[in-house]
Amino acid sequence: MGSIGYYVAYGFIIYQTVTGKSSVGTLTFLAGSFRQLSSLMENSLNRFTSVSQGAIYLNDFHEFFEIKPKITVAASPLPFPKPIKQGFTFEDVGFKYNNAESWANRHLNFTLQPGEKIALVGENGAGKTTLVKLLARLYDPTEGRILLDGADLRDYDIADLRLNLGIIFQDYIRYQMSFSQNIAVGNIDEQANIELIRKAAHESLADTLAARLPLGYDQWLGRRFNEGVELSGGEWQKVALARAYMKQAQVLILDEPTAALDARAEYEVFQRFSSLTQGKSAVLISHRFSTARLADRIIVLERGSILEAGTHEQLMANNGRYAELFNLQAAGYQ
Ligand SMILES: Nc1ncnc2c1ncn2[C@@H]1O[C@H](COP(=O)(O)OP(=O)(O)OP(=O)(O)O)[C@@H](O)[C@H]1O
Ligand SMILES: [Mg+2]
Repeated sequence: MGSIGYYVAYGFIIYQTVTGKSSVGTLTFLAGSFRQLSSLMENSLNRFTSVSQGAIYLNDFHEFFEIKPKITVAASPLPFPKPIKQGFTFEDVGFKYNNAESWANRHLNFTLQPGEKIALVGENGAGKTTLVKLLARLYDPTEGRILLDGADLRDYDIADLRLNLGIIFQDYIRYQMSFSQNIAVGNIDEQANIELIRKAAHESLADTLAARLPLGYDQWLGRRFNEGVELSGGEWQKVALARAYMKQAQVLILDEPTAALDARAEYEVFQRFSSLTQGKSAVLISHRFSTARLADRIIVLERGSILEAGTHEQLMANNGRYAELFNLQAAGYQ
């Protein structure tokens, strides 16, 4: 349309000049003006296009800010009990992920006593990680409820709850930051407390690694930056494990904390773990039965529900799924 208008106007002034209605001077002047006008119009139309393109992203931006947290905070939250008196009780807890067809956890009934060490075992996808996510209140149960010292977990102050849980997930993050910052993320309020960071590193065996790094605790980790040093899988895991020891947590939850560790490191980690968690509750997820058998109680999960529970000796005597899997793994060593 713009081009048509432009050429029609051009034709018109040429016609006017040829028929002698306007002078050659006017023709030159008008032709220049038309060219300028058309480029100005083009520019302003382009502006509209870029504005409308930008508006698409603005939509995303507003939608992002409209997302409300699904985990609601109680109006007058209870402080986390110090110490825990009765423990965590799961009452017929079921959980289904958003848009998921099947239940990740169903009909869970058990109590994590104060000071008790529980091991969760079960096949891939049995719902072990989901269970500890419910315990840390990353999700609320779809059905049933979780009680802490008799009150619903939803009634507690969520920041206080998280402060009292030391938790290392299976898919922990390898931060492209310094060695000490990598540990400090376990309790960011204490990031300047180098004493505490060193203590945590000692407890998770990461300190021997720091001694080998050129810049020690200030060494940048990961390859994203030039001066960074890449660690092996097991070394990263020791760093991640130190995060759990950054807090004076009453409950420690470790989701396959030693999967990448060598046999000696794993043995030492658990030697320390049992002395460090004296009097504290702990939930341990492991596929290695040599580790799981150290717990006070072992819970075997299958398709989200508890199949059996008891001490290693009881479960072996039961000759159920635990005994079957234990013997299967043990057979590999003989
Ligand atoms: N974020 C998610 N969204 C939807 N479904 C999920 C999500 N996380 C897990 N699931 C599903 O929930 C079920 C239980 O998963 P979960 O991670 O608890 O298993 P797990 O016992 O920890 O397994 P693994 O031994 O492999 O770590 C699986 O069937 C899985 O597909
Ligand atoms: Mg898992």
